[in-house]
Amino acid sequence: MRKLEADRSAGSIAIEGLVKRFGRVHAVDGVSLDIRAGEFLALLGPSGSGKTTILMAIAGFEYPDEGRVLLGGEDITWLPPNRRNLGMVFQRYTLFPHMSVLENIAFPLKMRGVGRAEREERARGALRTVRLEQMGERSPAQLSGGQQQRVAIARAIVYRPRVLLMDEPLSALDKNLREEMQIEIKHLQREIGITVVFVTHDQTEALTMADRIAVLDQGRLQQLGAPRELYEAPQTEFVAGFIGETNFWAGAAAAAAAPGEALGVQLDGGVVMPALAASPVPAGGRVRLALRPERLRIVAGGGEGVPARVTEAIYAGNATTLMLETAGGQTLRLRIPAGTGLPEAAAGEAVTLSWQAADARAFAVRS
Ligand SMILES: Nc1ncnc2c1ncn2[C@@H]1O[C@H](COP(=O)(O)OP(=O)(O)OP(=O)(O)O)[C@@H](O)[C@H]1O
Ligand SMILES: [Mg+2]
Repeated sequence: MRKLEADRSAGSIAIEGLVKRFGRVHAVDGVSLDIRAGEFLALLGPSGSGKTTILMAIAGFEYPDEGRVLLGGEDITWLPPNRRNLGMVFQRYTLFPHMSVLENIAFPLKMRGVGRAEREERARGALRTVRLEQMGERSPAQLSGGQQQRVAIARAIVYRPRVLLMDEPLSALDKNLREEMQIEIKHLQREIGITVVFVTHDQTEALTMADRIAVLDQGRLQQLGAPRELYEAPQTEFVAGFIGETNFWAGAAAAAAAPGEALGVQLDGGVVMPALAASPVPAGGRVRLALRPERLRIVAGGGEGVPARVTEAIYAGNATTLMLETAGGQTLRLRIPAGTGLPEAAAGEAVTLSWQAADARAFAVRS
């Protein structure tokens, strides 16, 4: 029983107060993060936000200026990479060109002194896991990009590491293959029950694959949560703007509100619309509303709401997007998914907009 518990937590990672500077650049600026054993965690953020640096600190290729990295509860901050026993897959294919696929996969086992027969058997097993069993004798040059990345994954899991670290492993692949591989990697992770830390700057990829996503900006953790949580309840304007599409609209709070409470927000023309406070909002304080295009509604029959004019209607098969402009000059995007039967409108029409409090998040503007 005790062993079972130990095994279960063996793949957990704790990052505590991680700081990494390169000269004057704070690549990582005080990040703390608990990654559960068996979890698929995505590190998501724009270029230069510190994703790779965090991954390198977990792998042992960068040592932090401050903070600690724990693996299964054990402090590994200063342990050399080869003693961490983590699997790694990078963006570029890093297979040895002069070795066959099987030799590539067996290589880490050879380095660990595993005998020939066992190497071969385990390499074939790993190749089966990534569904390339027929391709063991080929050389990497005879494989497609997606197949090469599958071999790289097989090589990274063949010695059964507790954790698999992946840095944008799909970004060199075309869109279709990439989407296929996203699902495949996810299935593989479930199947072998390994902890995965997956770096990407592609929010759709993170939303598709991850159990939880850590959103980073300028070396700081903005929010850690399940995909749905990040999309529906972003805690910062950065997260609201980075995940999914968002309209931002400046207004004034009609009353004070604590985070999670509903409030009225006065928008241009004086109309007061409902919202939920995402941060503490003082009465009369300036706020920015974050509104998802697919949560805005056109009110039929001119009910209560914000008057606006349709400047453009873009039909795209699965949805229609309306570009709108209010009397005060605010531009907004509104999306009507196909087949919902919701009211639509054509370019040039005057409409009234509405939304529910839960669909508008109000962020206090710091002055
Ligand atoms: N070895 C280094 N020397 C100097 N600066 C570095 C070094 N490595 C990273 N940086 C800087 O640290 C910051 C974070 O870099 P990092 O590579 O972690 O970002 P990233 O989120 O992985 O970005 P990308 O999506 O472009 O890969 C950047 O400003 C980068 O220029
Ligand atoms: Mg990077």
